[in-house]
Amino acid sequence: MAVAHRCCVLAGYLLLLLLAGCKARIHTLTLKNETRFAVDLNSFGFYANGILNVSVSSLKLPTSVNYTSFPVGFTLSRSRVNGVLSYTAEETGTCPLTPPKLTNTEPLILFLINIDTLSVTVKARGEQDNLLIAKLKPEVAEGEVRKTRDDNPPEHPPPDKQDETKPQDNKDTKSGDKSDKKADEKTMPEVETTVNLTNTKDLSLALDKDHGSYSFSFDMVVGSSAEGLYSLKFHYCTNRMSQEKLSYSFSVNVTEKNLGGFLSAAEIPLSRLYICMAGVFFTAALVWVYTLMKHRYSVFKIHWLMAALAFIKSISLVFHSINYHYINTEGRPIEALAVMYYITHLLKGALLFITLVLIGTGWAFVKYILSDKEKKIFMIVIPLQVLANVAYIIIESTEEGSSEYYLWKEILFLVDLICCGAILFPVVWSIRHLQEASSTDGKAAMNLEKLKLFRHFYVMIVCYIYFTRIIAILLKVTMPFQWQWCYEFLVEVSTLIFFVMTGYKFRPASNNPYLQLPQDEEDVEMDEVMTESGALEGISKVKKTSNGRERQKESTL
Ligand SMILES: *[C@@H]1O[C@H](CO)[C@@H](O)[C@H](O)[C@H]1NC(C)=O
Ligand SMILES: *[C@@H]1O[C@H](CO)[C@@H](O)[C@H](O)[C@H]1NC(C)=O
Ligand SMILES: *[C@@H]1O[C@H](CO)[C@@H](O)[C@H](O)[C@H]1NC(C)=O
Ligand SMILES: *[C@@H]1O[C@H](CO)[C@@H](O)[C@H](O)[C@H]1NC(C)=O
Ligand SMILES: *[C@@H]1O[C@H](CO)[C@@H](O)[C@H](O)[C@H]1NC(C)=O
Repeated sequence: MAVAHRCCVLAGYLLLLLLAGCKARIHTLTLKNETRFAVDLNSFGFYANGILNVSVSSLKLPTSVNYTSFPVGFTLSRSRVNGVLSYTAEETGTCPLTPPKLTNTEPLILFLINIDTLSVTVKARGEQDNLLIAKLKPEVAEGEVRKTRDDNPPEHPPPDKQDETKPQDNKDTKSGDKSDKKADEKTMPEVETTVNLTNTKDLSLALDKDHGSYSFSFDMVVGSSAEGLYSLKFHYCTNRMSQEKLSYSFSVNVTEKNLGGFLSAAEIPLSRLYICMAGVFFTAALVWVYTLMKHRYSVFKIHWLMAALAFIKSISLVFHSINYHYINTEGRPIEALAVMYYITHLLKGALLFITLVLIGTGWAFVKYILSDKEKKIFMIVIPLQVLANVAYIIIESTEEGSSEYYLWKEILFLVDLICCGAILFPVVWSIRHLQEASSTDGKAAMNLEKLKLFRHFYVMIVCYIYFTRIIAILLKVTMPFQWQWCYEFLVEVSTLIFFVMTGYKFRPASNNPYLQLPQDEEDVEMDEVMTESGALEGISKVKKTSNGRERQKESTL
């Protein structure tokens, strides 16, 4: 318990630390002395007219590399489904900035940084319907114009070029800026221009240099036939293609927006989903409490623990919903509410596993004393649960591109797996214990009924774990981008079903087989029970049933 306490204190500190960095859809990421060859910056589901603003600054690159042969830059790619599959397919040792020959028509935009010519070469591939808004490199802009319109006087490229590449977007505010700046074109040659990528496949953006660090920015408006899940990645191909690991630094601000708010297409329904599920869980909890009141003479402490779990789950969902609401409207969560969500989430996780392990050991249903073995399960599961939840909170509140993000993701995956495995042990022990008892016991029929129940419980836990951890993730990977909220929906619904079924199976009722069990805390020692022969156990049970139960009722209520 001391360990658990220390973990809680640690979690509290972490929460305070994280107050400053809650995850938002207005992302700011600074990488220093980074050596990864690829950095996943963001994934976001855009509907038509969604806006992506990216601004890169303080980009510092080692100058010893020939960036023509080892390119450096960003990719913005659309994938039909979540990035899991494309990510693995990409790890083939070739530089993604020099794609061989595109086999599909998915939009892909490459931003290649050339520090020698101070430009960013943009290459749009696939079926494009996006508008790119950025400062163009003046010479290249002229070249583009001359290519298409030979009689164009090169002294006035921006207005003509705008006519050429931007027929639909003349009302844009930047056109005002542009005519103002036309006078001092010599000193301010770079102006923001809107380019329809359907017509223009290659162009050059301006790269600013200031004290050895580079910066550039671009905005993108998603066209109606280009909506989808986009991922923005940074690639440093030197570290991918050669053995030496050079370090670079940059900081990037990314803002992603759909028309309705800051949430990705898949997340837009989540706020409503969570509040609805909170209502359902709350109703279920009320029904459960009502049942407990009705059968107050056969209620155990664990039944109240189950009620508390359902209420905490409902409260946690309410905060989750509020969190998403504020991310949608403000672009970032309200910190106090986010912390409330994290606390309730942590409580819920701990309570869920405590309850499952207690039910699994048959505590209150079969016996009152936990064996050392079972206590050890608690010593493992509770700290790991706290760790898993801390990992979850860190993942929620750090940027995807930061180096510790994947570490914590792996920790969460591993710890979660161990916890899920560990909660099965007590159930298995209970089943084995009941099997032994029923084979020799005089009251075999009753033990068999208990055995059946614990087997059902085991199957339920396994189904729940498999469903939420594996099948739901498979569904998530195969689902179109705007339907990915179905994953959260399935997880919540399966949790509800699991809670309801567990409640139903272990409900307090006079005809429940558990109520014919010995419930005397002082008399039944677990170690005794385990070593005792089944026949003796049966006799002691029969003896204790009558007087033991009365006492237990009083202590519970
Ligand atoms: C990054 O590397 C430089 C030079 O190698 C060093 O001076 C600096 O302290 C490093 N910064 C960090 C944050 O590690
Ligand atoms: C993002 O880009 C759009 C289009 O250029 C622009 O209107 C908007 O002001 C930008 N937003 C931010 C936060 O820079
Ligand atoms: C990124 O955002 C931070 C905080 O919002 C701001 O201080 C910084 O200037 C921005 N950087 C760029 C390149 O826009
Ligand atoms: C970089 O490599 C390319 C060929 O890969 C070559 O044409 C170019 O001259 C090299 N640049 C420098 C500065 O070495
Ligand atoms: C870009 O141009 C194509 C063809 O000229 C047009 O169909 C499309 O609507 C344009 N896209 C946007 C977003 O304006």
